[in-house]
Amino acid sequence: MCGIIGYTGERPAAPILLDGLRRLEYRGYDSAGLAVSSGAGFTCVREAGRVSALADKVAPSSLPATCGISHTRWATHGAVTEANAHPHLSSDGCIALVHNGVIENHLALREVLLAEKFSFVSETDTEVLANLIALLYRGLDEGNPVDRFTEAVRLALGRVQGTYGIAALCREAPGHIIGARLGSPLILGVGAGEHLLASDAAALVSSTRNVVYLKDREVVHLTPDRFSLSTISRQSVSAVVSKIAWSVEDTEKGDFSHFMEKEIFEQPAALENAMRGRFADDESSPKFGGLNLTPPELRRIDRLLFCGCGSAWHACLSARYLIERYARIPVDVEYASEFRYRNAPLAKDTLVFVLSQSGETIDTLAALREALAKGYRVLAIVNSVGSTIAREAEGGIYQHAGPEIGVASTKAFTSHLMLAAMLAVYLGRMRDLSFTEGCRLVAGLRRAPGLARQALDLAPAIRSVADRFTHFDDMLFLGRQQMFPLALEGALKLKEIAYIHAEGYPAAELKHGPIALVGPQCPCLFLAPNDEVLPKVLSNVQEVKARGAPVILISTADAPIPDGLADEHIILPACPEPVLPVIAAIPLQLLSYYIAVNRGCDVDKPRNLAKSVTVE
Ligand code: G6P
Repeated sequence: MCGIIGYTGERPAAPILLDGLRRLEYRGYDSAGLAVSSGAGFTCVREAGRVSALADKVAPSSLPATCGISHTRWATHGAVTEANAHPHLSSDGCIALVHNGVIENHLALREVLLAEKFSFVSETDTEVLANLIALLYRGLDEGNPVDRFTEAVRLALGRVQGTYGIAALCREAPGHIIGARLGSPLILGVGAGEHLLASDAAALVSSTRNVVYLKDREVVHLTPDRFSLSTISRQSVSAVVSKIAWSVEDTEKGDFSHFMEKEIFEQPAALENAMRGRFADDESSPKFGGLNLTPPELRRIDRLLFCGCGSAWHACLSARYLIERYARIPVDVEYASEFRYRNAPLAKDTLVFVLSQSGETIDTLAALREALAKGYRVLAIVNSVGSTIAREAEGGIYQHAGPEIGVASTKAFTSHLMLAAMLAVYLGRMRDLSFTEGCRLVAGLRRAPGLARQALDLAPAIRSVADRFTHFDDMLFLGRQQMFPLALEGALKLKEIAYIHAEGYPAAELKHGPIALVGPQCPCLFLAPNDEVLPKVLSNVQEVKARGAPVILISTADAPIPDGLADEHIILPACPEPVLPVIAAIPLQLLSYYIAVNRGCDVDKPRNLAKSVTVE
């Protein structure tokens, strides 16, 4: 949440900052601003609303400065106003600051600063930190301005409680940027004669693919031609420069109307990437290189715990069905936000998996740290290479799904499902699954990209279903067993991007409450593939039909569905069981997408939401 980009080099900073903000906008989009060094101070431009509103206000030709910082905001402290937008300047004009995170002791610090005659023009915790750095800078009268600036940032960060990713400028040290992080991501971009700082690699790739991922409690000092890394406690750190595997084109919409649409259609490729190089030569099992656990260690695991948030949590639920079925290992699933504060008594040989697209979701990160602190082995399934969760987990699996920009997760979700299915078969082969059964399941897994392409071919038909269901205000999503997590995901997609009240339930739970809502104004979507519970699902369809509810049925070509049962019938290809959840997700994504477009919603930037939730 919130996006930061800073630049120091030889080119004018403002266009680079605006381009970076556009690429980071999925992290927050209620206000934006930039500050560049200018003469004896800063030129600071801010605007409530989108980055495009800020760009309209900034005349880059009037801002030739080659060093600046900028920010796109998701409001935590203070309303969505221009005054609360970042950057914030200290009241003496010495320091400009952008910040992602929450300073928890900002009220106490504000009192101290007021007593020192600093003043405030916003309600934000960030302005407190800007003033605190300025106060401490003033108190350091020895040394050159750059050293004093760096030291003042360190001292200030030593006094704050909470989380931060920051980039700061000092009026008396033009061309220098100081960045630091604790709990909020920050990445250094290493260019030729220029350096950048950003919350996410997406903002850097148009300038450089060489990056350094900062760790918690690290401070970075940037000038056009050099950078140095140290800890807040002044120990120097040697930087590891990594190369971003994707290019700027991967972060563009291309011919698609929305990133979400693009990412839905990228799923066959994302599934290929999830599988690439991950099957044993004899095709009897998936294999994973990065789990950092030996087969004997994996065989000893007698319980698994899966944690995540949002769609990743739904993927955890799906993992439970798959792993319990194929590997016969009991699986618990927890919301990361609940697990982190619950003193859960876990079985001794529990292996914890955290799932996260961004690798930065604060609750998932905290769950990982809590499990590690209790001495459990923790692995992660993450898309974002070099992210905090990826680095702090003891091992794991990269999704290689490419950058996901749309706020509502699509390709990262199905990639998580795919990897969960592969993991289930992998663990199963270490236990009771035979060689023959392993080969059969692997052959099924390998069909996922092709089946996903067939599901995507249904897009025109799903668009006409969407046209019929655009005007409803409520919808229920129902499915049993493996299809229950998909029902939850379908409902989440619809509410987050189309703002329609939607709920997902196990179909049998219908009669324990939700059926009270059912009627002509509350359509029901059933997931009814050809599985052992199909007859039960079809009975539930009859129950809602009897009460006048319009019915959308998503089934598979091999499912015996009576003619005329549903108002709309979407028929997926027959799927091998482990990839069924992956393929069933696709019509749900398309349906929500087309309904949201019909309703004129801003699909990629749904109201109040942001991707990469880095505040609790
Ligand atoms: C936000 C996004 C969701 C995502 C969730 C978890 O809520 O809008 O699409 O599923 O965060 O994100 P993560 O990056 O941890 O998968």
